[in-house]
Amino acid sequence: METVTVLMIGDVVGEAGMALVKERLRPLSLEYGAALTVVNGENAAAGYGLTEALANEIFDAGADIITSGNHIWEKREFWQYMDDNERVLRPANYPPQTCGRGLALIEKAGLSFAVINLQGRKHMTAIDCPFKCFDSIYETLSAGQETAKNGAAQTGTPPCPIILVDFHAEASDEKEALGLYIDGRAAVIAGTHTHVQTADEKILPHGTAYITDLGMTGASGAVIGMKAEPCVSRFVSHIQARMECASENPALQGIAVKIDAANGRSVEIRRI
Ligand SMILES: [Fe+2]
Ligand SMILES: [Fe+2]
Repeated sequence: METVTVLMIGDVVGEAGMALVKERLRPLSLEYGAALTVVNGENAAAGYGLTEALANEIFDAGADIITSGNHIWEKREFWQYMDDNERVLRPANYPPQTCGRGLALIEKAGLSFAVINLQGRKHMTAIDCPFKCFDSIYETLSAGQETAKNGAAQTGTPPCPIILVDFHAEASDEKEALGLYIDGRAAVIAGTHTHVQTADEKILPHGTAYITDLGMTGASGAVIGMKAEPCVSRFVSHIQARMECASENPALQGIAVKIDAANGRSVEIRRI
């Protein structure tokens, strides 16, 4: 069986996260023999959004695609970049009028990949339905696949694309539900947004690799990568406090997934 490995890395938080990405991403990619690396960058700019300079640093460090989530809108000056750069994604189920895109198509190691970014709706903004949004993107990709299959029969290349989903969501039930809903259609669905890595990585019955949350890349000795004091005080006093990124115990978290290149189904998922 010919397999291909992909890495998906959890939300990069502030300077501590960026330092780890720059230091560890390429060695990790080499260690795992990864063909494709997807990094969630929604908190790279001091916890709030992303800038063009930081996106370029994440790409320079070895990322192929940057996904995001609810915090991607924090830096207004980044909106134009999202329109211009096909490798930076925002969740696809924001309304069509929103800048940027939620689907990236990329060729790596002689294979076609589709990376889809989606966002949950439970305890989050009431955007379009992520389930129906996946259906609609999958339908479009499958239509292309039918055409590709006809060509593939002649050229001997796999019909692909191999689909990877970053599901940026708060609620674990919504994440598990979407995982089972798309099982067999995507190679991987990985949750992001909570910044806490879950220990439930598995291959679902029809071959989709699943984890409720990738975790994050940032200071693990604090509160979801932010300094503890204002976070705690916010809960105690119910008064908004200025949040700042922490630096203690930095850790890079994510998954490495081995996919059968012939059918786009996963055979192994490991937590990083
Ligand atoms: Fe995040
Ligand atoms: Fe988020």
